[in-house]
Amino acid sequence: APRYPVYTREEVRRHRSPGDRVWVTHGTEVFDVTDFVELHPGGADKVLLAAGGALEPFWALYAVHSQPHVLELLREYKVGEL
Ligand code: HEM
Repeated sequence: APRYPVYTREEVRRHRSPGDRVWVTHGTEVFDVTDFVELHPGGADKVLLAAGGALEPFWALYAVHSQPHVLELLREYKVGEL
């Protein structure tokens, strides 16, 4: 399995806008979703609400994400681990 760099939540929080890259976490995984923001079916504004932090509080509100194909898509953007 590939080994990823390890980041702190503070480092993730510095990536909250497309200019600074948009990072999110899911579990203990870190993703750079900058290139996905404009492709999001729910709109760019919604993804940016989670920028710099955890997806779970938002995904708990939008059950559309509880499908395997969503996690498969997210996996393509993985850049690190917490
Ligand atoms: C829909 C992925 C973050 C709100 C979707 C869909 C995907 C997706 C693949 C379509 C699912 C389907 O119809 O089968 C992602 C990824 C995210 C993310 C990879 C993070 C990188 C968020 C956040 C919110 C959100 C943070 C809310 C604050 C929505 C909504 C829809 C949606 C409302 C439904 C859009 C519609 O069908 O009209 N998302 N999402 N998403 N997402 Fe996200």
